Amino acid sequence: MTDALDFTPDFAAAHAYFRSHPKYTPSPLRQIKGPGGCTVLAKDETDRMGLGAFKALGAPYAVARILDDRWRAQSGASDLNTPQAQAFIASQTFVCASAGNHGIGVASGARDAGAKARIHLAETVPESFADRLRALGATVVRSGPVYEDSVAAATKDAETSGDILLADGTWSGYTEIPKWVMEGYCVIAEELRAEFETSGAWPTHVYLQAGVGGLAAAMAHMIRLNWAVQPELVVVEPRAATCLQDSHRAGQPTQATGPESNMGRLDCKDPSIVAWAVLERCDVRYAVLTEEEGAVAARQVTALGIPTTPSGAAGYGAILHENAALLESEAYHPLVIISETSS
Ligand SMILES: Cc1ncc(COP(=O)(O)O)c(C=O)c1O
Repeated sequence: MTDALDFTPDFAAAHAYFRSHPKYTPSPLRQIKGPGGCTVLAKDETDRMGLGAFKALGAPYAVARILDDRWRAQSGASDLNTPQAQAFIASQTFVCASAGNHGIGVASGARDAGAKARIHLAETVPESFADRLRALGATVVRSGPVYEDSVAAATKDAETSGDILLADGTWSGYTEIPKWVMEGYCVIAEELRAEFETSGAWPTHVYLQAGVGGLAAAMAHMIRLNWAVQPELVVVEPRAATCLQDSHRAGQPTQATGPESNMGRLDCKDPSIVAWAVLERCDVRYAVLTEEEGAVAARQVTALGIPTTPSGAAGYGAILHENAALLESEAYHPLVIISETSS
């Protein structure tokens, strides 16, 4: 159990993989107006790899690693460009549940490699995501009323079909593949570190929105590992889905209860056990957003020129609720991740 909860990502491998990818470019770091006259640094993930969200760094990287590993194990060869390797890849299918963006990552990674994807979506996931998934060549299966039902359906699907489960959450007995997904997200922290090393303008606070916690944990791990100037870390969840802070309080992974949230991509009731364990080691504090606060944040960030959703703007939403003394302090330099586009 202890080893399974370790997280020692080979972020240099992930970064090297993306630097050689034709669609890769570092995402922009923008400055937008914050409350109380502060300026907010906004890492703009809304056009990452042309897929509309930071999740483009996770699953596609995991797809590449899994295919590489499996082909080596099966053939002893490392070249994926031979006809035999291509036939092997074409026979592989990736299965996952998704609140939207992870599925896009799996579908796009599978398509680019020449493999197939089958994505389970709960009824809460907008049909626009289903359309985008089909356009990427994936099979879409509607699986149950809420996200947790789609996770159970994807797990069962992989068990019965023998296809490859590529989840972004982790649970007891299933941690290895999602750690590769998180390894891909580490690229965001590395891009930021390089930029701050050059500018010297390190943030004092970093706000990280969380669903199952993979993004927040990857970022927190990397920031604590190798940023020269250490910020305060704030993990932001919808009030309807506070699984990570509930787990922190309980001292063990804990399921949250709550209604459906308009922050759909953050509406996860079960934490990733690896993400929970990483966040426990990273000295983070927690913030919650109401539905209305999420909606206000999305409107404001969109009006400031980055069209996004309540999930994408949740970090900015947490800033709106910091106390006035902090917001007006000259020493306050917050950073948020605008994690998806609304268009
Ligand atoms: C746009 C967006 N922001 C944040 C998150 C949260 O990421 P995680 O589930 O790794 O905590 C997601 C997850 O799907 C997402 O799609």
